[in-house]
Amino acid sequence: MLGHDVTAAAARAGHDVTPLSRRELDICDAAAVSAAVTAARPAAVVNCAAWTDVDGAEADEPGATAVNGAGAGSVAAAAAAAGAFVVQVSTDYVFDGTAREPYGESAPTAPLGAYGRSKLAGELAVAEAVPGAHAIVRSSWLFGEHGGNFVATMLRLGRERDELTVVDDQVGCPTFTGHLATALVTIAERRLEGIRHVAGAGSCSWHDLAAATFAATGIELRLLRGSTAELGRPAPRPAYSVLRSERPDTPALPDWQEGLHAYLDLGVTA
Ligand SMILES: NC(=O)c1ccc[n+]([C@@H]2O[C@H](COP(=O)([O-])OP(=O)(O)OC[C@H]3O[C@@H](n4cnc5c(N)ncnc54)[C@H](OP(=O)(O)O)[C@@H]3O)[C@@H](O)[C@H]2O)c1
Repeated sequence: MLGHDVTAAAARAGHDVTPLSRRELDICDAAAVSAAVTAARPAAVVNCAAWTDVDGAEADEPGATAVNGAGAGSVAAAAAAAGAFVVQVSTDYVFDGTAREPYGESAPTAPLGAYGRSKLAGELAVAEAVPGAHAIVRSSWLFGEHGGNFVATMLRLGRERDELTVVDDQVGCPTFTGHLATALVTIAERRLEGIRHVAGAGSCSWHDLAAATFAATGIELRLLRGSTAELGRPAPRPAYSVLRSERPDTPALPDWQEGLHAYLDLGVTA
């Protein structure tokens, strides 16, 4: 989902882009990663590849860590060997969600589940592989044109159902991948070092995001409030994972509502 938009944003900014899908490059194959990066001779590498099945990671943490930890480290090592700046995409799930005010970059990490642990392992691997030439960009609650996402699911369920229950006890920053992608390209161009929190401005619950989606699209249904515990998902989720940047040179994104409208304007149907 994000990789497509980063490719488009980089091309719009006038860069030569080498997009690689999983079929073309398995980031767990360190030799293949090294060969691909050497061949591309990049000024920057943006790693959007990841194991993103949060519940699936609970059942196979070694599998998730191979991609999100060691795989991210291989990409960073290959980039370092080529003299390229690395942008590694990470997540709000490195936090435990017990805070009641936004998490800045210096907040202590404490992942609740396997996915968050695997992404944190990737952060550490990247920092070790390319000291001084990497950005670790934590974002959250992504929705975009090129992948399954919460807003797309709401649009589908909104057409199918008269009534829907959505959790209101998780609060975060919904982020449009079109906005995030542009920021990632800027971070690569300016070689903005270190951890960076980049997410849609403002915050809301999943219930609020569903309500805003239905209001914007004229879908009428009974929207009820549910709890995370009632859902009974295998992976724990942070109850509060609002991200803010403490670093003034970090690109700021528009409000999440603006991101939602930009996404809906694309006319994507689930
Ligand atoms: N989605 C969110 O809400 C969210 C929130 C915060 C941070 N993030 C982070 O944002 C980044 C982009 O996420 P996304 O939402 O765009 O996820 P996505 O749509 O699931 O894209 C991840 C891509 O990585 C590929 N991949 C998986 N294992 C691979 C491997 N071993 N080698 C090469 N490619 C591999 C996947 O291929 P297959 O489809 O074939 O498996 C998929 O194309 C990730 O780092 C994710 O952790 C996402």
